[in-house]
Amino acid sequence: MNITIVGAGYVGLVSGACFSEFGFNVTCVDKDIDKINKLKDGVIPIYEPQLEDLVKKNIFANRLHFENDLSKSFDISDSIFIAVGTPTNSRDNSANLIYVYKVIEEIVSLINIKNKPKLIVTKSTVPVGTGQEIIKLISNLRPELKLYDHFDIASNPEFLREGSAIEDFMRPDRVVCGVESEFAKEIMQKLYRPLNLRETPILFTGRETAELIKYASNGFLATKISFINEISDICEKVGADVQQVAKGIGLDGRIGSKFLHPGPGFGGSCFPKDTRALAEIGKKYKARSRIIESVIDINENRKLNMVKKVQDAIGNLKNKSISILGLTFKPNTDDMRESPSIIIVSELLNMCKKLRVYDPAGMDNAKKMSEFNGVEWCQNAYDCIKNTDAMVLITEWNEFRALDLIKVKTLLKQPIVIDLRNVYSKEYMQEVGINYVSVGRS
Ligand SMILES: NC(=O)c1ccc[n+]([C@@H]2O[C@H](COP(=O)([O-])OP(=O)(O)OC[C@H]3O[C@@H](n4cnc5c(N)ncnc54)[C@H](O)[C@@H]3O)[C@@H](O)[C@H]2O)c1
Repeated sequence: MNITIVGAGYVGLVSGACFSEFGFNVTCVDKDIDKINKLKDGVIPIYEPQLEDLVKKNIFANRLHFENDLSKSFDISDSIFIAVGTPTNSRDNSANLIYVYKVIEEIVSLINIKNKPKLIVTKSTVPVGTGQEIIKLISNLRPELKLYDHFDIASNPEFLREGSAIEDFMRPDRVVCGVESEFAKEIMQKLYRPLNLRETPILFTGRETAELIKYASNGFLATKISFINEISDICEKVGADVQQVAKGIGLDGRIGSKFLHPGPGFGGSCFPKDTRALAEIGKKYKARSRIIESVIDINENRKLNMVKKVQDAIGNLKNKSISILGLTFKPNTDDMRESPSIIIVSELLNMCKKLRVYDPAGMDNAKKMSEFNGVEWCQNAYDCIKNTDAMVLITEWNEFRALDLIKVKTLLKQPIVIDLRNVYSKEYMQEVGINYVSVGRS
């Protein structure tokens, strides 16, 4: 089985490396020449645990290849996966499909009607009905190409999480395949057969259903986060402890304990844009999702509320210097897309005298963002904290969990720690003599 994956970003590269590990012959294609040249040399352009070893191993086994040009692997490929970005449309908050359709145009120009049909698989997160739109586009561009005779479209949304992407791809909770023909079903079955050993549920649905499952999943998870964030606000007012509330509700099997961690709001390349796109899908089909619309609002306000929390803890910020630990939207990734730190840092920059920041993997990407212009970049956590008036923890990297808090206290000008992820023990902070503010723990 030969596969081509177009788009060698977080999803395309991880999927390509894992499919090649399953034993398939995979070519990852990306228009970014620099990225492809690096990958050919085994250099990984993103931070993702375990990925480098897997890529190197499969390049060496001659099962994983990288190209700039889709035509190099097209003829030999049974299926072509599309894994390009689907960012928010600036006009109306829907998903922007420009990159997906560009790939379709390329594919259409390469289909040879004398060859076996090609299965085009959307792995990018695309709105409901995109598969159908692709069929229309193909028949407009080349009317002689017939569905099933020359091509077919499947939806195979991806659920991996950055930071544990390899594990998630190799041991997923489920795989969802939206297919409309036996031909598509057979190919998808072959591709995911290696997961049968682990008894992974493979759910075959219609294409529209698969497309919606992805948005509904992300919408639900984002809702859990906004829900616990609202509950944490109530906890602060009434003197309850949100950690215990989350535990108390999470132990109910109908609710589950995951995604019940209060914090500065969700970010990243998926939840913000996918909740916006889901709200737009609801509006488009006159079936508005008021829950999702509220979740988006709550999350936007959440970041500003965290700025207020810092202000309340420190007082007048005018002559103060603040240290920020953690910039990425979660640990174990270098992804800065829509990280809550962007709003928090840019707001604090306007209010305080000096802002020192440190993140173990996200600083190269943060340096490219104008919102960070004016911060002082630091070498490590202790260097960052030194001589500042307060420390604010935004991302819960493991190395921050293990900080020597006595040292932290001596490095800070004032012993104030604002922990937006609840990683430290309140009692220990008190023992050390740090003025400690966390989330939902009065
Ligand atoms: N990142 C995640 O955690 C995650 C998880 C699940 C689903 N998704 C979805 O997967 C899709 C991809 O996300 P990502 O984070 O991997 O994006 P990304 O931005 O990291 O990668 C996209 C890649 O596509 C390439 N590209 C764009 N147009 C191209 C073209 N015409 N030809 C060749 N290459 C092209 C870009 O150069 C880039 O390298 C999105 O729809 C996203 O919503 C992402």
